[in-house]
Amino acid sequence: MKSLKIGVCGVGNVGGAVLENLTNTPDIVVSNGGVQIEITQVGARKGKSAVPYDLDVVTDLMEVAKNPTIDVFVELIGGCDLAKDLIEHAIGNGKNIVTANKALIATHGDELFKLAKEHKVQIGFEASVAGGTPVIKALREGLVANEVKWFAGILNGTTNFILSKMSEDKSSFDDALKEAQELGLAETDPTMDIDGTDAAQKASILSALAFNTPFDFSFVSYGGIDQVSPEDIAYAYQLGYSIKHIAYGSLDNGQVNVSAFPTFVPKDQLLSQVGQQMNALEIFCESIGSTVYYGPGAGPKPTASAVIADLVDLSNGGWPESENKKNQNTLIKECKQQFSRYFKLDVKNEAGAIAKVSSLFADENVSIEALIQNEIKDNSPNENFVPVVIISGVLTDTEAGRLQENLEAMTEIAGPVKQFRIHNAL
Ligand SMILES: NC(=O)c1ccc[n+]([C@@H]2O[C@H](COP(=O)([O-])OP(=O)(O)OC[C@H]3O[C@@H](n4cnc5c(N)ncnc54)[C@H](OP(=O)(O)O)[C@@H]3O)[C@@H](O)[C@H]2O)c1
Repeated sequence: MKSLKIGVCGVGNVGGAVLENLTNTPDIVVSNGGVQIEITQVGARKGKSAVPYDLDVVTDLMEVAKNPTIDVFVELIGGCDLAKDLIEHAIGNGKNIVTANKALIATHGDELFKLAKEHKVQIGFEASVAGGTPVIKALREGLVANEVKWFAGILNGTTNFILSKMSEDKSSFDDALKEAQELGLAETDPTMDIDGTDAAQKASILSALAFNTPFDFSFVSYGGIDQVSPEDIAYAYQLGYSIKHIAYGSLDNGQVNVSAFPTFVPKDQLLSQVGQQMNALEIFCESIGSTVYYGPGAGPKPTASAVIADLVDLSNGGWPESENKKNQNTLIKECKQQFSRYFKLDVKNEAGAIAKVSSLFADENVSIEALIQNEIKDNSPNENFVPVVIISGVLTDTEAGRLQENLEAMTEIAGPVKQFRIHNAL
C-alpha cells in the first residue's frame, strides 16, 4: 500500500472538510485510490482550538511548508500573499503542492509552475475551478488528443444560485444573496463572486490549460451580476431566455480571448437549464465536438473532494506537464466574437423617437430582431419616457460599446443604456 504524508495549511471551510474526510472516512480513499493519506501536520493560526482532531497542529504556517517529513504541502488559506510565500518555500524544499486557490493560480501560475519544474515537483489545482466537478482533469488528461476551439461555462455557483432565485422565486437580488450566505454558498464578503472576478479567474485558468496560453488573469474582460435587475430577468423570461453568468474562452488563428459576463441564454440551450449553485462547462474540440461537465461548483465537500483527488493523483506520479508546455497561443484582450445583444433603454414618449433609435441601429449596420415597447403604467416613475427592449443582430463587444455610447448621447434617451450578450455556440 502506497502512503502519502501531507501538511495542511488553513482549516476554514475547505481545509476543515479535507481534514474531516481524511479523518472520518480514510477507507474510501484507501479502497478507491490505493493510497493511505497521513495528515502529518496542520497549520492553523488559531491553533488546536480550530482542529477537532488529534493531530499535530502548529500556529506558524511556515513550519508546515518547511517540514522535511511531508510529501505534499496543501494550501487552503486563499489570497496571494502568504499563500504564495508558503508555496514557494514548500516547493523550494522539494514538496509537491495541492491548492484550491484560483486567485493565486490565475495571477502567479506561470511563476509557480516554473519554480515547481526547476525543483522537479508538481502542483495540483483541480479544486481551483468548478469544485467537485473534474474539469481540469478533463482538460489535462481526457481531452489531450484534441485541440480545444472554445469553452463556455457557468463557473460561479454563488451567482448562479442568486440568478436562479431571482428568476424562479422572483426574489430580489439582496434576498437571494442573503439566502446564499445563510446556506454557506456565499462568502461574508461576496464582492469577487458578484462582480465577476471569481468566474474570470477560473476562466483564465481553463484558458491556460485549454489553449496553452500563459496564466494571465489581466487579459480577461468581465462584468458581474450586479448589473442584472429583476426587470431584465422578466424581459428575458418574456423573450424565451434565462440570464446566466457565462465565461467564454476561444481560440482563433493562434489568438485566445477570455471573457465572462451576464448573458441571455435561450431556454432550449443546455446552459439555460443549469440551476441553483451548480456549475457547467461545455468544451468544444473540432475533432469530437462538444463535451459537457456538470456538477457542484463550490462548497466545502465538493472542493475537498477535488483536493483529495489531486493527492491520489500525486501518489500515482502526478500529471502530464501540460502547464509547462511552450506557450503556443497569444492572449488578446479584445473579444472578436460577435453576439446578438439585449439592449434596454428608456426612450422619450413622443412621436418619431423610436424611429430615430431604429435609424441609429441602421447607421451602425446592426439589425433589430425584436423590439418590445410596453405601455407606460400610471405609477411609472417617469411618464415622459417609455422602457424599450431591443434584441439586436450580432456585433462585437467593441461595436456594442460604441452603439451603447451613441444611444446614450441621444436626447430621446434618458439615463444609461444597458446591454447584455445573447449566448450562441461559438
Ligand atoms: N469555499 C469554497 O467553496 C471554495 C471553493 C473552491 C475554492 N476555494 C478556495 O479554497 C481556499 C480556502 O477557501 P475557504 O472557503 O476554506 O476559506 P476560509 O473558510 O476563509 O478559510 C481560510 C483559512 O485560512 C486561514 N487563513 C487565512 N488567512 C490567513 C493568514 N494570513 N494566516 C494564517 N491563516 C490564515 C483562516 O484562518 P482563520 O480561521 O484563523 O481565519 C482559515 O482557516 C481559497 O483559496 C478559496 O478560493 C474555496
